[in-house]
Amino acid sequence: MMRITIAVPLTLLLCLLTIHPPPNFCTAHSDSEVRCIESERHALLNFKQHLTDPSNRLASWAASASDVDCCHWVGVVCHNRTGHVLQLHLRSNYPVYDYELTTIEQRTAQDEAYSRSRFGELRLSVCYLSGFISPPIPNINFSSLTTLDLSYNSFENTSILFWVFGLHNLVSLDLSGNQFQGPIPVHLQNLTSLRHLDLSWNQFQGPIPVHLQNLTSLRHLDLSYNRFQGPIPVHLQNLTSLRHLDLSSNQLQGPIPVHLQNLTSLRHLDLFGNAFNSSIPNWLYSFSHLEFLNLGYNNLQGTLSSAIGNLTSAISIDLSYNKLSGQLTAELGQLKNLVILSLEYNSISGPIPWSIGNLSSLRYLDLESNQINGTLPQSFGQLSKLESLYIGLNMLEGVVLEVHFTNLMRLKTLVAAQNRLTLESRSSLLVISRVNNPEVNIPEVTNVSFCGY
Ligand SMILES: *[C@@H]1O[C@H](CO)[C@@H](O)[C@H](O)[C@H]1NC(C)=O
Ligand SMILES: *[C@@H]1O[C@H](CO)[C@@H](O)[C@H](O)[C@H]1NC(C)=O
Ligand SMILES: *[C@@H]1O[C@H](CO)[C@@H](O)[C@H](O)[C@H]1NC(C)=O
Ligand SMILES: *[C@@H]1O[C@H](CO)[C@@H](O)[C@H](O)[C@H]1NC(C)=O
Ligand SMILES: *[C@@H]1O[C@H](CO)[C@@H](O)[C@H](O)[C@H]1NC(C)=O
Ligand SMILES: *[C@@H]1O[C@H](CO)[C@@H](O)[C@H](O)[C@H]1NC(C)=O
Ligand SMILES: *[C@@H]1O[C@H](CO)[C@@H](O)[C@H](O)[C@H]1NC(C)=O
Ligand SMILES: *[C@@H]1O[C@H](CO)[C@@H](O)[C@H](O)[C@H]1NC(C)=O
Ligand SMILES: *[C@@H]1O[C@H](CO)[C@@H](O)[C@H](O)[C@H]1NC(C)=O
Ligand SMILES: *[C@@H]1O[C@H](CO)[C@@H](O)[C@H](O)[C@H]1NC(C)=O
Ligand SMILES: *[C@@H]1O[C@H](CO)[C@@H](O)[C@H](O)[C@H]1NC(C)=O
Ligand SMILES: *[C@@H]1O[C@H](CO)[C@@H](O)[C@H](O)[C@H]1NC(C)=O
Repeated sequence: MMRITIAVPLTLLLCLLTIHPPPNFCTAHSDSEVRCIESERHALLNFKQHLTDPSNRLASWAASASDVDCCHWVGVVCHNRTGHVLQLHLRSNYPVYDYELTTIEQRTAQDEAYSRSRFGELRLSVCYLSGFISPPIPNINFSSLTTLDLSYNSFENTSILFWVFGLHNLVSLDLSGNQFQGPIPVHLQNLTSLRHLDLSWNQFQGPIPVHLQNLTSLRHLDLSYNRFQGPIPVHLQNLTSLRHLDLSSNQLQGPIPVHLQNLTSLRHLDLFGNAFNSSIPNWLYSFSHLEFLNLGYNNLQGTLSSAIGNLTSAISIDLSYNKLSGQLTAELGQLKNLVILSLEYNSISGPIPWSIGNLSSLRYLDLESNQINGTLPQSFGQLSKLESLYIGLNMLEGVVLEVHFTNLMRLKTLVAAQNRLTLESRSSLLVISRVNNPEVNIPEVTNVSFCGY
C-alpha cells in the first residue's frame, strides 16, 4: 500500500492544506497606504491577550507606534483597499506535507504564505484554568474575515470556536492538527460560504453530522484522521460542488453509499483505512474527473469491473488491503494518465492482461500478495516510466526474459519473490541488476529479488 500523505520536517512545510494561494497576500503587505480598522486592531490585541505565546511569535502584535498598522502584523492579511482583516494564519510548527496534485507554483506561493504566518505554540491557557464562566475568547467581530487557519496548535475544546461560527464570510477554515474532541459543533452549519474545510488530525468523534449538508459551497472537505464512526450520511449528497473528499483513517463502516453518486465533480476521493464492506460501486467509474482514488485498507469485496477503464483522468488508484477477487480486466490498459496502481493484498486471480503495457505513465505498480497466475506478459517491456514493481507472493510462472526489462530505464525496485518465475539465464539477472553490463544502456536496478524476501 502507498500512503500519499507523509509527515516531513519543518523546512518543507508549505502551508499546503490551503490549496489555493490566498488572494491579495502580497499586495496587502506591500501597500503601505492600508491602515487597519481600529476596532479590528483592538480585537486582535484582545485575542492575543488570551493566548500563550512562549516563543513570542506574535511580537509584532503590539500597540506600539511602529506596529500600529495591524495589516502588517504576522499572520494578518487585510483587504488591499478597505483595510478589513481578511485572513488570519496562525499555523504552528507541525503541519503535514500533502504533496499530491500540487504544483511547484502553488508550493512556492504557499511557502511565502507560510513564512509570513509562522507561529509558535499557540495555547489558550485559560482553558486550563478553573472558574471561568464566560467563554475564553471575547466575541470578536471580524465580519470580513475569509480565511482562518488555526491548524497545528494545541486547541482542545470546541467551545472556544463559538466566535468563529459568526464569521459568515468565512471561505476557508483550517482546524487540522489540534486536539479537538467530541462531535463537530452544530453551529458550523452557519458558515454557508465555506469552500474549504479541514478538520483532519483531531479527535472528533461520533457520526459525521447531518448538518454538514448546509455547507453547499464546499469544494474541499477533509475529515481524515479522526474517530468518526458509523455510516457516511446520505446528506453528503447535497455537497455537489465537492472536488476533494477525504474521510480516511476513521472508524466509518457500512457500504460506500449510493448517495455519493451525486458528487460527480470529485477529483480526489480518499476513504482509506475505514471498514467499508460493500463492493466498489459501478457509478464510481463514471466519475470522469476523478484523479485520485484511495479505497485501501477497508473490507471491500467483489470484482474489478471492466468499467474501471472509464476513469481516464485517474492518476493514482489504491485498492490495496481489501477482499477484492476476480481477474484484472484488460480495460485497465485505457488509463493512460495512471501513475500509481496499488492492488496488493487482495484475492485477485488470473493472468496479468497484455494491455498493462499500455499504461504509459505508470511509475508504481504493486500487485503483491494476490493469486495472479500465468506468465509475465512481454508488454511489461513497454512500461518505460516504471520505477517500482512489486509482483511477489503470487502464482506467476514461466521464464523472465531480458526483453521484459530492457526498456525499463527507470526501474529502481523489483520484487518478484514467492512466485514460480525462473530467469532466462544468469545474464538476464545481470541485465536486470545492471551489474557490470555497460553495453546495455539502462540504469541500475538497486533492488532485485526473485528468490525470497
Ligand atoms: C487589490 O486586489 C484586487 C484583487 O486581487 C486587485 O485586482 C487589485 O489590483 C488590488 N489593488 C491594489 C491597489 O493593489
Ligand atoms: C460586525 O461589523 C460589521 C461592519 O464592520 C457590522 O455591519 C456588523 O453589524 C457587526 N456585527 C456585530 C455582531 O457586531
Ligand atoms: C469546554 O469548555 C466549556 C466552556 O468553558 C466547558 O463547559 C466544557 O466542560 C469544556 N469541555 C471539555 C471537554 O473540557
Ligand atoms: C447560527 O445561526 C442561527 C440561526 O440563524 C443563529 O440562531 C445562531 O446564533 C448562529 N450561531 C452563531 C454562532 O452565530
Ligand atoms: C440547514 O439545512 C436545513 C435543511 O435544509 C435547514 O432546515 C436549516 O435551517 C439549515 N440551517 C441553516 C443555518 O441554514
Ligand atoms: C439536501 O438535499 C435534500 C434532497 O435533495 C433536500 O431535501 C434538502 O433540503 C437539502 N438540504 C440542503 C441544506 O440543501
Ligand atoms: C442525487 O441524485 C439523485 C439521482 O440522480 C437525485 O434524485 C437527487 O435529487 C440528487 N440529490 C441532490 C442533493 O442533488
Ligand atoms: C457491512 O457492515 C455492516 C455494519 O457493520 C453490516 O451490518 C453488514 O451486514 C455488512 N455487509 C456485508 C456485505 O458484509
Ligand atoms: C463506461 O463507458 C462506456 C462507453 O462510454 C459506457 O457505455 C458505460 O456506461 C460506462 N460505464 C460506467 C459505469 O460509467
Ligand atoms: C494499446 O494501445 C494501442 C494504441 O493506443 C491500441 O491500439 C491497443 O489496442 C491497446 N491494446 C490494448 C490491449 O488495450
Ligand atoms: C489461473 O487460475 C485460474 C483459476 O483462478 C485457472 O482457471 C487458470 O487455468 C489458471 N491459469 C494458468 C495459466 O495457470
Ligand atoms: C527495496 O525494496 C524494499 C522492500 O520493498 C524497500 O523497503 C526498500 O526501500 C527498497 N530499496 C530501494 C533502494 O528502493
